[in-house]
Amino acid sequence: MNLEIKNICCIGAGYVGGPTMSVIASECPEIRVEVVDINNERINLWNSPNLDDLPIYEPGLKEIIKNCRGKNLYFSTNIEEKISQADMIFISVNTPTKRKGIGAGKASDLKWVEVCARQVAQFAVGYTIVVEKSTLPVKTAEVIKTILESSQKFNSKKEVAKFDVLSNPEFLAEGSAIDDLKNPDRVLIGGENDQAITALSNVYENWVSKEKILHTNIWSSELAKLTANAFLAQRVSSINSIGALCEATGADVREVARAIGSDSRIGSKFLDSGPGFGGSCFKKDILNLVYLSSYFGLREVAEFWEGVVNLNDWHQHRISNLIVKKLFGTVTGKKICILGFAFKANTNDTRESSAIKICKDLLEEGANLFIHDFKVESKQITRDLGIAENYEIKIKSENSSFYEGEWCFMDNHIDNYEDADAIVVLTEWHEYSRLDWDSIALKLRKPAWIFDARSILDVKKIKKANLNLWRIGDGVS
Ligand code: NAD
Ligand code: UGA
Repeated sequence: MNLEIKNICCIGAGYVGGPTMSVIASECPEIRVEVVDINNERINLWNSPNLDDLPIYEPGLKEIIKNCRGKNLYFSTNIEEKISQADMIFISVNTPTKRKGIGAGKASDLKWVEVCARQVAQFAVGYTIVVEKSTLPVKTAEVIKTILESSQKFNSKKEVAKFDVLSNPEFLAEGSAIDDLKNPDRVLIGGENDQAITALSNVYENWVSKEKILHTNIWSSELAKLTANAFLAQRVSSINSIGALCEATGADVREVARAIGSDSRIGSKFLDSGPGFGGSCFKKDILNLVYLSSYFGLREVAEFWEGVVNLNDWHQHRISNLIVKKLFGTVTGKKICILGFAFKANTNDTRESSAIKICKDLLEEGANLFIHDFKVESKQITRDLGIAENYEIKIKSENSSFYEGEWCFMDNHIDNYEDADAIVVLTEWHEYSRLDWDSIALKLRKPAWIFDARSILDVKKIKKANLNLWRIGDGVS
C-alpha cells in the first residue's frame, strides 16, 4: 500500500532543518511542512517579516521563504502539537562532540536526539515515520527505535502509536545548500520497512530523479554519512600537507592540484589548499568515526582518521606562526586586518572556523586585530574569541600604541587599512579578490605583508603595489 505523506514535522530549525524543509515545501506544495525548535529567538527570526533577519544566510533561501512561508511552510515552537499532527517527523537537531564522560572529546553527544525521540514517543499519533536527518553514529536508529517502542508499552493514550525509523542523512554544504538540495548528487535512504522507504522516496521524487535515490540498509546509511565527510576532510588535509611541502620546496600547490586533479581517478574537486577545514561537521564527524573505530577495537583505523584532524590543527597553527615570523618575530601592538571570519564564503556560520584559531593565536601574541566579514556579526566573533570588542583601538590617539591583544569589527573594510602592518585573507569572499592594492598600499605601514590563505588575490597587482605577499602553498614567489 502506498502511503501518502501530507504533514511533515522537522524538529530543529538550524542550518540543515531550515534550508532542507524550505526546499521540501517549495518542491512539494501538497505537503504541509512544520519546522519546530526549542529556541524561541531562532524561530522568531525565521518568522521575521524582514527576510534579511533570517537566522541563516544561504544564497536563494530568502526567495523560497518569501514564496512558501505561511502557505505550506511554518516555523514555530509548538513542538508537541506539530509532532501529533505529523505523519513523517525529521529529527534535525545538533549532535556535537561530547564534552564530558565516556567518549568525551570524540563521541557524539546524542542527548538532543534522545530528547526528540522521547517527545515523539509521547506525542505522536497513529503510524509515524521517524527520519534521522541529523548525522549520527552507526546504530543510533536502534536507540531511537527502542525509545519509541518501549514507551508505547506504558502508554495511557487510547491509540498506541506505531513507528518506523529511517536514516536519511543530509549532504548539503553550507553556502550552496539550496542548490545542493535542489540538485543533489544522491539522496540516501536507509531502512528496513519498504512502505516507509517508499513514502520518503515519493517525497523526494517530486524533484529528484529515481536513479539518484539510493536505498541501503540503515547501518550503511548512517556510516556512509560519516564516511563521506571523513573522505572530504581527508582531501583537504592531504592537499594542505602538500601545500606546506610546496612552500618548502619551490613547488606551487595550485599547479600540483591541477596536475593530480586531471587524473579522473582523483578528480579536481576539493583540492583547494586553504587555512584548514572548518565547519560544524568535519571535525566532529571524523572524531565520531575515530571513537567508533576504537570502540570496536580497530586502533589502526582510529589512528588513520585521527591523523586528518591532527594535520588540520597543525596547519591552522602553522599559518599563525608564519604570520608572526614574517612580521619580524613579533606582532605585539601591531595592527593586523583580518578579512573573513566565516568558515567558508557564502555563509554566516563560524563554527570551527580556522579564523577562530588563527585570530586567537595572533591575539595571544599581542596583535590588535581589525576583523571584517560580510555576513558574520560582531557579537558572534565576540562569542567565538571569548574577548569583548575594544572600540578604542579604532580611534587613533597617542595611547593606541599601548593596546595589545585587542580586536574590533570593521563595518567597512575599505576604510580601515590605515597604518596596518598586515592584511590576512581567511575566507574566500569574492569581494576580497577585487581590492584596489595601489590605494591600499598607500595606507599600510611599511614593510607591509599580505597573507592570502585562500589564493584569491591578484598576485601581479599586489607585487606591482610593492607589497610583500605570502600565498598558501606557494614556494615559487
Ligand atoms: P544547528 O545547531 O544549526 O541546529 C540544530 C537546532 O536543533 C537548533 O536550532 C536547536 O535549538 C534545535 N534543537 C535541539 N534540541 C531540540 C529539541 N529537543 N527540540 C527542538 N529543537 C531542538 O545544527 P545543524 O547545523 O542544522 O546540524 C543538525 C544536524 O545535521 C547535525 O547532526 C549535523 O551534523 C548535521 N548536518 C549538518 C550540516 C551543516 O551543513 N550544518 C550538513 C549535513 C548534516
Ligand atoms: C561539508 C560537506 O561538504 C557536506 O557534504 C556535508 O553535508 C556537510 O559538511 C556536513 O555534514 O556538515 P560544509 O562543511 O558546509 O559541508 O562545507 P565544505 O564545502 O565541505 O567545506 C568544509 C571546509 O573545508 C571549509 O572550511 C572549506 O573552506 C574547506 N575546504 C573545502 C578547503 O579548504 N578546500 C577545499 O577544496 C574544499
